[in-house]
Amino acid sequence: MGKVAVLGIFVADAAFRADRMPVMGETILGNSFALGPGGKGSNQAVAAGKMGAEVAFISALGADAFAQMARDMWADAGVTPVIREIADSYTGAAFIYVDEATGNNAIIVSPGAAGLIGVDDIARARGEIESADVFMTQLEQPMEAALEGLRVARAAGVTTVLNPAPAAELAREMLELCDYITPNETETEAITGIAVTDAASAKRACAALRDLGVGVPIITMGEQGVYLDGHGMVPAINAGEVVETTGAGDAFNGGFASALARGLSPLEAAKFGSVVAGISVTRPGAAASMPTRGEVDEKLG
Ligand code: RIB
Ligand code: NA
Repeated sequence: MGKVAVLGIFVADAAFRADRMPVMGETILGNSFALGPGGKGSNQAVAAGKMGAEVAFISALGADAFAQMARDMWADAGVTPVIREIADSYTGAAFIYVDEATGNNAIIVSPGAAGLIGVDDIARARGEIESADVFMTQLEQPMEAALEGLRVARAAGVTTVLNPAPAAELAREMLELCDYITPNETETEAITGIAVTDAASAKRACAALRDLGVGVPIITMGEQGVYLDGHGMVPAINAGEVVETTGAGDAFNGGFASALARGLSPLEAAKFGSVVAGISVTRPGAAASMPTRGEVDEKLG
């Protein structure tokens, strides 16, 4: 089935939907509120776990009700937590504002305990990383932890995937440690300076990422699909009406990593991840919207 080690954060997503964003100093009435599991790394781990991969999730939590939410969800998704509990911190939370007129969102994430993840946590999780087929991380926990995780994985010959989100400039060493990188358009521009709008600009950005030392760039482009370097656009699938796109990138990454871990080619893995993402956007929530393996296999035909 393949093993995936994911380094990242869990947060409780507090999602508010309203007709517009309040301006500073103003109070407006929202249309709905939902609390559910989020955090890019945790969402990716849950997606991979539900796809049947053996998943170790390396992170930190507080000792509070949100931490319990995380543990319960990971148990359901078959994710093994490799967690440092930091009692004098707190489990992170994200404010997610969804503009119902446009479907766009704006997010503030406070990682809490997961913001304290450091190189010592990577040392503690070394065995989990070295025994994995794929190591995957993002940029919501401190950068030095991501970098150290990638170093440990590379040294052990483990395939590395970096989802460079949220957007940041990246050091050359970091990029050279990536077998795969999966930025969206904004993140691609933050790294390369190239604005990505279509297949032609995505192709140019992929070349720039390769020049910076990345193995295989994959640019995720929302409803257009994902641009896989060396292949071209893998179109997004339409699995029904789009309800919420929060976590769609995570669905792709979790699906992609699980497929690589089972030995699929990058193209097959990108197609598989696209189906996971395509189904996730038809459901509310982030981690809660990840499909089952059966649903994905049915769509793949
Ligand atoms: O990628 C989506 C995630 O980003 C949300 O679940 C939110 O927690 C933010 O971290
Ligand atoms: Na969703």
